[in-house]
This record gives sequence, C-alpha cells and structure tokens, in this order.
Amino acid sequence: MLIAAPKVRMPAPASVERAALELSRRLGESKVMAEGDGRAAYGADESEVEAHTPDIVVFASRASDVATTLAVAAECDVPVTPRAGGSSRVGGAVPVAGGIVLATHGMNAIKEIDPVDLVAVVEPGVMTAALHAAAEAEGLFYPPDPNSLKWCMLGGNVAANAGGPRAFKYGVTREYVLGVEACLMGGHVHRPGRRTIKGVAGYDVTALLVGSEGTLGVFSELTLRLRRAPEAVVTAMALYADVHAAAAAVNRVLASGAVPRCMELMDSRTLGAVRAQKVAVDVRANAMLLVELDGDAASVERELEKVGGLLSEGPAALDVLVAQDEAQRDRLWEARRMLSPATKKLARHKLSEDVVVPRSQIGALLRATDAIGERHRVMHLTYGHAGDGNLHVNFLWNDDEERVRVDGALLDLMTEVVRLRGTISGEHGIGVTKLDYLPLEQTPALIDLQREIKRVFDPKGLLNPGKIFAPSGHGSC
Ligand code: LAC
Ligand code: ZN
Repeated sequence: MLIAAPKVRMPAPASVERAALELSRRLGESKVMAEGDGRAAYGADESEVEAHTPDIVVFASRASDVATTLAVAAECDVPVTPRAGGSSRVGGAVPVAGGIVLATHGMNAIKEIDPVDLVAVVEPGVMTAALHAAAEAEGLFYPPDPNSLKWCMLGGNVAANAGGPRAFKYGVTREYVLGVEACLMGGHVHRPGRRTIKGVAGYDVTALLVGSEGTLGVFSELTLRLRRAPEAVVTAMALYADVHAAAAAVNRVLASGAVPRCMELMDSRTLGAVRAQKVAVDVRANAMLLVELDGDAASVERELEKVGGLLSEGPAALDVLVAQDEAQRDRLWEARRMLSPATKKLARHKLSEDVVVPRSQIGALLRATDAIGERHRVMHLTYGHAGDGNLHVNFLWNDDEERVRVDGALLDLMTEVVRLRGTISGEHGIGVTKLDYLPLEQTPALIDLQREIKRVFDPKGLLNPGKIFAPSGHGSC
C-alpha cells in the first residue's frame, strides 16, 4: 500500500460498541461482523491506498438492511463505507474512518430483464459480467464494460460512473442509469428516476447520485437501460512501429466519421505485458490499436474496409489483422482486460491514472508523458481508451526512495492534463488517490458548492468520509 489515507475523524469506541449491538439486534447476528480477523478483508480495495480494517462489517441481503444500517449509523454517530465488488482503483471502498463497511455483494438478484421496455432491474451486488450474460441471453446488450467486469459489481459501477472500452461509442454507465433506489444517512429511502425513455420531472437526482462515489447515498436497486444486441461484431488489431503513428491513426479514424465501438491503444511497454499473456505480437511492433466495430452485418463489413484502410496508412503502420473467430477475439480482449493486473507485475509498485484529454490532444499527452517520465526519471507506460481520449498513464517503480519522484511526475501529469483542457479522472473517480489534484481542475467555489450538496444528503459527514474532497487541514497541492 502506497497512499496514506487522509486524516479524518474516527468514531468514539463507545459509539462503535453501541452501533454493533444495535445492528446485531435489528439485523440479526449473522449479518454483523463486529470482531475477528475476517474484517480485514473489507479494509482494502484494488487501489494502492493503505488498508484500514473496519470496526464492523454489515452483510446486507435486502434493501431494508441497507436502510437499517444507515439509520443505526446516524443514531450512533459512526461512519459508513459502502462496498459492492471492492474493485475501486482510487480507494473508494477503503474505510479510512473505520466504523462500518456496508457490504452489498449479497444483494445480487437480477430482478427483471424487460425486452420491450428495454430495462434491467438489478440489485447492487450483481456482477457486471452477469448482467451482460443475462441481457445477451435475451438478444439484448448492456454496453458499459469496465475491464474488471468479471469481478466488479453494478452498485460500484454506478457509484463510480464506470466506463470501459465501449464507452467511446455507447457512453459511460451514466447513460444507462434510468433510476435508482437509494438510501441516505438516517435510513431514508428514495426512488429518484424513471423506467421510461423520457422523463424530466424535477431535479435529476439520479444523475447526481451516479458517480457520487458512495458519498451521498447507498444503492439498493438500479433500473438500467438496455439496447438490442448488435447483429455483428468484428475485432481488428493494428500494429505500429511507434506510438505516435498509432495516435495519428486514431485521429484519422475519428476525422473520417467512422464510429468503432472501441479504439484501445497500447504503447510498447504495455505490449510487453500483452506478450507475457501469451498473445503473439510482431516483435517490430511498439504500439497496438485494438479496434472493434459493431452494427448490422453489411455496414460492419463496409466500415471495416474503410477503417482498415485508415489504420494501415503511413510507413510506421505494420499490419492490420482481423480476428478470425470468437476464440481469437476473446484472446485479444482477455489480454487487454488483464492489462491492469498484468502491468502490475513489471515493477514492485504501480500507480495507474485515468486522465482524459480532448481527442485531438492524445499525441500531446503522449509526448508530455514521455517528457515527464524523463524529467522525473520514472518508468511509465500508457494504454487505454484512445477513442475517447481516456488514457491510463501508469508510473512504475521499485524502490521507496523513488516515490518522491513519482509524486512529482503525477503532479506534472495532472497539471498538463488540465492545461490541455482535459480532466484528471475519466472513469475511476477521485476517491482518496486524487483528492489533492481536484483543486487543479475545479475552483474553490465549485468544490464548496459540492460540499454544500454533500451536507444536504449527509449533514454529519458520516457516509464514505475522506473521499473526493480533501478533509479540511489535509495537505493540498
Ligand atoms: C482499464 C481499467 C484500469 O481500462 O480502467 O483496464
Ligand atoms: Zn479503463
């Protein structure tokens, strides 16, 4: 663990004790873990934020358990950190203030898939891949596809407004959340949103909750929009001698008006990790684009010809290969989806960012990253969702003394991204790891406005404290 948790107010031991007793009484002892080593498993997520074992873990199995937990927490003045799959890359699920972890993975029912209304109604603990499979079985399609889809859960996807490769064509999770059932601190349950295609009644409270990183409410049900499954999907791999040629190819495709559903870029160090996963990649290649098209069969064929031509232009383009069958396609995607854990093996430590720049600035971001890596002498690699300008810049190092240089590189990267009119986070959220960088992008007044909103939902600041906004007194850059 590499990133210290912010200093936040911890609950009084007597309050924790009272909460544990009250929770056991109201929920039953089997749903409450208030002692023992088992709690440690709920103290970390997939980020580098230092773990913090919670005092109490509640295993919710229905909406009323969520409401009861938030009522008891408010009564006893004990913080609560919601948790679904625990796959946050930014410390969103780390209970930095101790107190209660409210685990919703047991709420994993797909309650409804409606092929006429084109909606799915699910609980927050449903795995994203499970919804994909259930929708596909009905000839339907749920586009958001964070690469952790085999282990992340929809509650967390909605809390983080997760993206993924297909966001380029289909948009991020937000586009697919029609309505939610959310419980607020104190136990009040609200059902903002709708099941219909249109709906403009009142403020868009659903939109406010999506991406609020578990700081405003805890989801107990989600109404999600589905699409009809595309008739045909084709995946191509384009190889380049250098990463700037790959970035130029992305720009050519974008300028042509073609809309592949994914355009994933991988630089040369990333390709090392791909090769390590037993995907044969031409040794001359220093960059790869993974491009996927979908639609009706005839238009996919036409678009493939056009996009294939654009990808092959220029002396640095080496080859464009189209996956010949489902197995080849799966192998390519499996290698791509495992990049985050696979690149972790390249050094003892890795910090992965999810910055976004306007698509015209992808080349500028790649150049800036090289310059920053060189200036601070930090190993780096970049891959990600080039189609929407959302790149995972990763800094890697082995020795603890290098850490201060990594911090310098991170600050320079974030500053440059904002200068390029981008954003510091495209899909993972701010959580703990980017607390200090938010002021680079947002004015103090805008941050204060959001703090006011937080106070309306959670006056005592008990829900997922220490996330998104630096606690007062916390060092800021
Ligand atoms: C990915 C995750 C890290 O795109 O967002 O692999
Ligand atoms: Zn990503």
